[in-house]
Amino acid sequence: MMKHAENDTEESDPVGGADQQWECEVTWQDDEGDRESICESFQLLQIDTGFDSPKDLPVGSEKWYSNVLRKQRHWEKIITAKKKKRKQEKEKRKAKHAEDKGIAHQHSKRVLKTIAKERLLAAKEAAPWLCIDLSMTSHMTHKEISRLAAQIRRLYGSNKKAGKPFWICLTGFVAGSPISEECLRMNDGFSNYLMDTTPESYLDLFPLETIVYLTPDSENALQDIEPHRVYVLGGLVDESIQKKLTLQKAQEQSLQTARLPIAEYMVKNANVKNYHSETLAINQVFDALSTYYETQSWPEALKAGVPPGKGYVLQKTAL
Ligand SMILES: C[S@@+](CC[C@H](N)C(=O)[O-])C[C@H]1O[C@@H](n2cnc3c(N)ncnc32)[C@H](O)[C@@H]1O
Repeated sequence: MMKHAENDTEESDPVGGADQQWECEVTWQDDEGDRESICESFQLLQIDTGFDSPKDLPVGSEKWYSNVLRKQRHWEKIITAKKKKRKQEKEKRKAKHAEDKGIAHQHSKRVLKTIAKERLLAAKEAAPWLCIDLSMTSHMTHKEISRLAAQIRRLYGSNKKAGKPFWICLTGFVAGSPISEECLRMNDGFSNYLMDTTPESYLDLFPLETIVYLTPDSENALQDIEPHRVYVLGGLVDESIQKKLTLQKAQEQSLQTARLPIAEYMVKNANVKNYHSETLAINQVFDALSTYYETQSWPEALKAGVPPGKGYVLQKTAL
């Protein structure tokens, strides 16, 4: 059966399958070449005309073919325009969605920031205080002071994110001193940090019996963290090979001392350098304290604070 694309009568469609879509440019001249090009086009488009040779194409098929192509081009233009419109609408929807998401994200970020700020300020009244004793920086090189400033930034960042933050106080922090200059230079927004800084010593600020000086050389393993206590960290870095410096200082000041319970929950692991150290950077000690304060679990706390490089792993029984 044949269908003519022009007047839609069954007899006038010379090739059949005229409702298929294709794209082809043919300039018509009424000769043998045109018939051959029609046949070739149909072959290329894999349309079975049912005719073996161009000569078999019925008279008038060139005109019919030309009309089919014209209609085809017309429909193609419409389809292309529709596709373009659909694509534009999709892009618009996508952009709007991204914008909404961005606003929601910004909004939730602001809310989270406000919550964190309120939590921090509340810690000043109800949480334990953490002092960083910066009165020993004269023992340190400029490089060590820079590292200490970076550790203070990390420690502050961890506390800001903590579910149960401490209140931080930098004691022995003298304006214009190398450590204050490094903190200002290296730590963005340092002057807006939500914490106290004072040139005074913790001894002048808190009752002696509330202070616990944390030192890796103490005989006492820290048992618990109590909200009414003040925990002091020595503002020193690893390179300061001044063994027992903070222990001696705390003893001279008649303060209680404690170390992290590394020996109680961890064991030395075999490593190439056979290196094992219980002395951590202040931000690592703080990560352990903060995790313990939140989870009440020393294994969790030590996992958070003691990096693998220190040569210790949790005891199997503590896992
Ligand atoms: C790099 S350490 C300095 C070690 C130094 N030899 C000293 O005498 O304190 C920096 C501070 O982190 C704290 N700290 C490091 N490791 C600790 C541990 N295992 N237990 C308790 N406090 C620790 C101490 O307050 C220490 O002063």
